[in-house]
Amino acid sequence: MHISLAGRAALVTGAGRGIGRAIATLLSESGAAVALVDVDEAALEETQAALIAGGSKAISISGDLTKPEIPEQAVARAVKELGSLDIVVNNAGYTWDSVIQKTRDDQFQAMLDIHVVTPFRMLRAASNWIRETAKRETAEGRPVMRKVVNITSISGIDGNAGQSGYSAGKAAVVGLTKTLAKEWGRYNVNVNAVAFGLIDTRLIKPMDDPDTLIEVGGKQVHVGMQAAVREQASRTIPLGRVGTPDDAAKAVFFFCSPLSDYVTGEVLICSGGARF
Ligand SMILES: NC(=O)c1ccc[n+]([C@@H]2O[C@H](COP(=O)([O-])OP(=O)(O)OC[C@H]3O[C@@H](n4cnc5c(N)ncnc54)[C@H](O)[C@@H]3O)[C@@H](O)[C@H]2O)c1
Repeated sequence: MHISLAGRAALVTGAGRGIGRAIATLLSESGAAVALVDVDEAALEETQAALIAGGSKAISISGDLTKPEIPEQAVARAVKELGSLDIVVNNAGYTWDSVIQKTRDDQFQAMLDIHVVTPFRMLRAASNWIRETAKRETAEGRPVMRKVVNITSISGIDGNAGQSGYSAGKAAVVGLTKTLAKEWGRYNVNVNAVAFGLIDTRLIKPMDDPDTLIEVGGKQVHVGMQAAVREQASRTIPLGRVGTPDDAAKAVFFFCSPLSDYVTGEVLICSGGARF
């Protein structure tokens, strides 16, 4: 069965690299036009160029999503330049780990800002257009299903030592997902979440890898995992390997496609069977 998303317009945050890039690629290979959002301009340009080279329509919106105006600008540009907004994937994120006694207020808040405040602002920004468009389509007798996918983590489901801020943000976005599923069902929007386990991006590289030192919002943050912790966690994965960004994108694709038209308010765990 081939699932076509031709004629659909998608917005993917954190699309410059990693899982977001794989999601944007899969959506665009399936025919969707894609608005790519990321704070890292070079990575964003690379993704956009690759999608356009593959024959797809892709626009890029560069900016730090934790700035209140960026989600609004992203939604406005997607609607204006793609002509619609049918799929929203709130994927941008990063880790900033430490045990609670070493976690500062601004560090904890930064995790809430990117993992739940940003998806909230993005969906609030999209709500007027989505509601008005859905009402018009229903009145015309041609309802259209739209899709929201919020990215969470098994850390948000089970908790994870060293991630009080990250796991709190990732748990909170599950609450946002379930609430929006109830508010937006009447507008034909499926709102779901995907919780990843270990997926092979810079977020789980060993901490001495230079890729793990990232800059977000003018600050340098160390992502990555301690090699021994990664090794131990990898050994408990029932499927016997960490996931690839493509594995992750396929789980998200289910919720972006008509296959999930009668599924809403759910969290799909994509972790090779692992739980923390
Ligand atoms: N990799 C994993 O093992 C794993 C596990 C569970 C959940 N996740 C989640 O998956 C999502 C994608 O992570 P990834 O592993 O692909 O990481 P990644 O670092 O490879 O990609 C994340 C992208 O988000 C962008 N980004 C981060 N903060 C931003 C901001 N403020 N504004 C705009 N863009 C921003 C980054 O620039 C980057 O391009 C995140 O939400 C992450 O928490 C990842």
